[in-house]
Amino acid sequence: MEDKIRVLIEEDEVDAKISEIAGKISEKYAGKTVHLICVLKGGAFFMCELSKRITVPVTMDFMTVSSYGSNTVSSGNVKIKKDLDESIEGKNVIIVEDIIDSGRTLKALCELLWTRKPASMEVCTLLDKPDRRVVDMKVDYTCFNIPDEFVVGYGLDYDQKYRNLPYIGVVEV
Ligand code: IMP
Ligand code: MG
Repeated sequence: MEDKIRVLIEEDEVDAKISEIAGKISEKYAGKTVHLICVLKGGAFFMCELSKRITVPVTMDFMTVSSYGSNTVSSGNVKIKKDLDESIEGKNVIIVEDIIDSGRTLKALCELLWTRKPASMEVCTLLDKPDRRVVDMKVDYTCFNIPDEFVVGYGLDYDQKYRNLPYIGVVEV
């Protein structure tokens, strides 16, 4: 059976906001190279769109992480399923995420990546559910704060489906 999906944020609105955030990054890193780290799989769509709009030199790498424990509630530990291909030492890293929920995955990932001595590290997320945060986590760039609803599209999945939707939607139950 097909799930019913309600549009939360239209494609045009998502794209306009990504352009705005890319502009901020380009300004801040003028004269430098930014090294984007995509957290797979969800961050891939956002990273492509973001990187196309950044005007300073960009390099990129990809990583897959998962939290230990239950599937629905993420725990504090992060397990690396696919590590970065290159060293981040001395680089201006920006971690690119699809969504920040509890913040646990990202916090653990940031702690791990700081040990690899980047010159700087920032976090850029497409979506944030601030009401769900359980750990203190600084986020440098957020496209949209959203309410506590389960969303899909633009890289985000429900049971591995709907990542390819060009807008952000809510699966109606
Ligand atoms: P947390 O911030 O450690 O709780 O985990 C965030 C991760 O949970 C994201 O990277 C997503 O993979 C997943 N997630 C959280 N909320 C949603 C949602 O609304 N839709 C799809 N995936 C979500
Ligand atoms: Mg994610």
